[in-house]
Amino acid sequence: MEYQSILPIFTLDNDFHMKKESILVIGACGQIGSELLPELRRAHGAFRVVAADRLPPHNGPLKAGPYEQLDFLDCRALGAIIDRYDINQVYHLAAMLSVTGEKNPQQAWDLNMQSLLNVLDLAREKKLARVFWPSSIAVFGAHPPNHGCPQDTPHDPGTGYGISKTAGEHWCRYYHAKYGLDTRSLRYPGLISHRTLPGGGTTDYAVDIFHQAVTAKRYTCFLRPDTLLPMMYMPDAIRATVELMQAPLASLSARGSYNLAAMSFTPAELTTAIRRHLPDFQIDYAPDFRQSIANSWPGDIDDEAARQDWNWCHDYEIAATTRDMILHLSPNHKLAFNPSPLTDRIR
Ligand SMILES: NC(=O)c1ccc[n+]([C@@H]2O[C@H](COP(=O)([O-])OP(=O)(O)OC[C@H]3O[C@@H](n4cnc5c(N)ncnc54)[C@H](O)[C@@H]3O)[C@@H](O)[C@H]2O)c1
Repeated sequence: MEYQSILPIFTLDNDFHMKKESILVIGACGQIGSELLPELRRAHGAFRVVAADRLPPHNGPLKAGPYEQLDFLDCRALGAIIDRYDINQVYHLAAMLSVTGEKNPQQAWDLNMQSLLNVLDLAREKKLARVFWPSSIAVFGAHPPNHGCPQDTPHDPGTGYGISKTAGEHWCRYYHAKYGLDTRSLRYPGLISHRTLPGGGTTDYAVDIFHQAVTAKRYTCFLRPDTLLPMMYMPDAIRATVELMQAPLASLSARGSYNLAAMSFTPAELTTAIRRHLPDFQIDYAPDFRQSIANSWPGDIDDEAARQDWNWCHDYEIAATTRDMILHLSPNHKLAFNPSPLTDRIR
């Protein structure tokens, strides 16, 4: 299928300064990387954006520009790629996520920390202009406020993954304060996408449920029906990432990571939204170990700092997300109930 952009606002014509960047995306085959990469290539030119992952390239957009198979723990190989392509910006997306990480917290810590430190050190040594590294709502844990979880609140991460994200935020802040490295970060909520499958996170149900709804019309959810979690549709997440990286340095106040929000919902609320289009959809609940991870995360997030500092504004709420997911996963399906198509798109 031909790639269609989700970001009409960034073009080669209207954003001339972006053409001069030379960018490396580490973890390009993942859920976020495989959607961010085509946007960056469209904005900067395919040969100015190098994709890297430990996997071989498996789809057209990945092969549309330079691709390097790389283990991010191999610091020398990473440094050689930065030199060869004269890289000046890195998006370091590769990580072990929360559910996979809970099966081996020590390994999650080793991989997530060492890879970040490799990138930060190389960025400092080679005087890169900017580094993007994603954090997560997993940093908060059970004690910060569950509703309106603030930008600045003590972290209390309940998973090895969350501990590595909290430490990573501190390292980003440290490299900025000590070496002047321009590190930028977002605490992504659970991300929902129809283009890629999720990579082993606690919010994966919110993607799996759509695949099952359009095929089997039945889904068994690993979280309880009333589990409220912050979520975001992938086009918003990609746009937030690009907009943060374009924001003027002086406007940024959060040097660890920015809270980022769009919508919060429970599995029961998502089921209701899906049934507006697929009335026969059935759901069962069989909570497993992921319930305790979800319980340690906030229900909704206060992202006022992002909205103030770099004018963040999300587009998609639950109804527009649901409709778009079902349309894309089952293109021949005639939407059963569609009173006003994108009523909850904000813009
Ligand atoms: N997806 C979400 O809902 C979400 C939410 C919050 C934060 N995040 C963060 O965003 C980032 C990207 O998440 P994602 O969902 O795209 O992850 P993902 O698991 O889908 O993709 C990660 C990619 O990294 C690659 N990778 C893993 N180990 C590697 C290694 N040793 N060397 C090179 N490549 C390696 C994998 O092959 C994979 O393609 C992560 O830091 C994650 O913590 C994601």
